[in-house]
Amino acid sequence: MGKFKIAVLVSGRGSNLDAIIKAVRDKKLPLVQIALVLSDNPAAKAIETARKNGIKALYISPGKFKTKLEGEAESSYIEALRKSKADLIVLAGFMRIIKPPLIQSFPNRIINIHPSLLPKYPGLHTHQRALEAHDLEAGCTVHFVNEITDGGKRIMQAKVPILETDNEETLARKVLEKEHIILSKVIQIFSEGKINYASFPDEPIVV
Ligand code: GRF
Repeated sequence: MGKFKIAVLVSGRGSNLDAIIKAVRDKKLPLVQIALVLSDNPAAKAIETARKNGIKALYISPGKFKTKLEGEAESSYIEALRKSKADLIVLAGFMRIIKPPLIQSFPNRIINIHPSLLPKYPGLHTHQRALEAHDLEAGCTVHFVNEITDGGKRIMQAKVPILETDNEETLARKVLEKEHIILSKVIQIFSEGKINYASFPDEPIVV
């Protein structure tokens, strides 16, 4: 049987990509092949990491907008993703809003990792917002990507307690550790063919 191919979209550091690469290497994702890493930032460390690990990595210019992909750029992204034959597209620290043409080209096959317990704190500065609200816990969510930013059906969440001594940096670190765990877990379940959008419950799996 052929491998379950994933394409990973990144913008920067790429620690989530690192975790996926490690999980593949350690045979925790035995069915998975990373077919492509795609970046909107030519300086992303993730590109270097991918290439060092023998994974095809491309920078595609995102066009003139800061927060989304401009029409022509979006078409190039769609084309590259189609070419990669990815069964699943993973947004792992991809800092742009994905719009309908791309979403509809891969229906229910795009997931994102977000550093909050969605539906709380979609968007940016999630840790700061959780601290300011004096929340007792924070966490991360892997969810399907739809037209609403960070609003698609949630698949898996992990929680961490917020301690009195926590600041943005310590909280981000704790949450990131969990991100690395749940993103690979979700990819694993997808690769086993066990996640179907339509039949997936409204409540996420909490680990
Ligand atoms: C992660 O916290 C992710 O949830 C957010 O951006 C960060 C990316 O980190 N969307 P990395 O590039 O995977 O290290």
